[in-house]
Amino acid sequence: MKRIVVATHNNHKVKEISAILNIPGWELVPLSDHISNTIIDLPPENATTFTGNARIKARFAYDLTGCATLADDSGLVVDALDGAPGVYSARYAGEGATARQCNEKLLEALDGVKRNKRTARFVCSLIFIDEDGTEYAVEGTCEGHISTTPRGKNGFGYDPLFVPNDAQGNPGKRTLAQFSAAEKNAISHRAVALAALRKLAFQIQPDERIRIVAFDFDGTLIDAASPVRLVNRLVLHDHVMSFWVGVKIAFWGMRYKMGSELDQSLPRRYIFGSFTDFPSTYANSIMVSLYHEKLRYYFRPEALRRIEEHKQAGELIILVSASFDPILKEVTREIGADGYIATQMEINNKGYYTGRTIGFPPEGEQKLVQLTAYADMRFGKGNWVITWAYGDHFSDAPLLAAAEHAVAVDPCRRLNSIAKERGWEIMPLGVQRVKSQARRSLYQAD
Ligand code: IMP
Repeated sequence: MKRIVVATHNNHKVKEISAILNIPGWELVPLSDHISNTIIDLPPENATTFTGNARIKARFAYDLTGCATLADDSGLVVDALDGAPGVYSARYAGEGATARQCNEKLLEALDGVKRNKRTARFVCSLIFIDEDGTEYAVEGTCEGHISTTPRGKNGFGYDPLFVPNDAQGNPGKRTLAQFSAAEKNAISHRAVALAALRKLAFQIQPDERIRIVAFDFDGTLIDAASPVRLVNRLVLHDHVMSFWVGVKIAFWGMRYKMGSELDQSLPRRYIFGSFTDFPSTYANSIMVSLYHEKLRYYFRPEALRRIEEHKQAGELIILVSASFDPILKEVTREIGADGYIATQMEINNKGYYTGRTIGFPPEGEQKLVQLTAYADMRFGKGNWVITWAYGDHFSDAPLLAAAEHAVAVDPCRRLNSIAKERGWEIMPLGVQRVKSQARRSLYQAD
């Protein structure tokens, strides 16, 4: 791997840049890490333009290390303030001022200015100096307006006041602090500048591939295990299954959630074994009503929020679950996902379930194998990429590892340690579980 030394001490920026700038064969290293964890003061940024300031930092780091170097300078430009705070964005409310103080000062400066006169943009200038000293300069902007009240908790700096325009260039609704990191990285001034740099210095064209987000269902999108809920219903409600078989599967479900290595075919065998006495259409209607009467109240609000964000960022949502086709079909329809992969059970020529699966169920490695086959068929080989994958169980790890960004959602202990080891995002949803009454009220509106 060749190194690009990033001339900043702001780890937040290194993180944002590395999340966007993925150049095969190159790694990004903060300046302080490169020179064995020594903090070296960067020279004062006293130029009058963003590019000038970025150049001061890039030259300094290049002269010091002789490595390829990247530096950025960014800030907010507000039209009604003749371009202020501009290069003074970080110290708009004085040297060492907090972001909140800068935001307050900005609101005061714009007091009484009408909405259509509050136009502004974030600007990011980048200077990249390659190993032989050749300099590349690029700039990216993100257009929007300044809101009258701060909103949102994500991001940094002026994000709570900056409302980016929508994809059509019309005034948007949410502030950047109400965007997730992924959404911000798709449209930010830094992303635009980095895309320009990829093209100019590395001849990498923007990625036009279809972006797929893979979402596991049980334990990830919903706070429940649908096969276990199905057993529950077959025992208690429809009296199709014996109590003791139900207890056995409930016990299996507990151990599964704890991350034990288990035979995943067990609940399937019992469930479909109990369906052999009636036509598959009747068995399907039990699964569909289970979804509408129970499972849909177990959606995790945070997971639904992420799905909406991915949709808005133009990504396709594909559910990948070992649960059964009739259930996944309903979920896909209700949340407006773009497709699903689920366990297909064989039906004989009399229209009864045989208890056997058609091909392998999508579990473990098979989740990735089947998603790959599905996407190759639907979009064509090489035309798609898994940008994000969400799962809760260690058997989801091969799918998660194939994504550009993996998220372990309320993970079992084993997935939790895999995620920590590989630096995957961990969403601790356990603490956010919604009581079932509250869940119901979530849906009472519709
Ligand atoms: P510098 O590029 O480190 O000089 O800092 C520029 C300043 O502009 C930051 O401290 C922020 O106040 C602001 N800024 C730059 N980029 C962003 C952004 O993405 N969101 C919010 N504020 C930003």
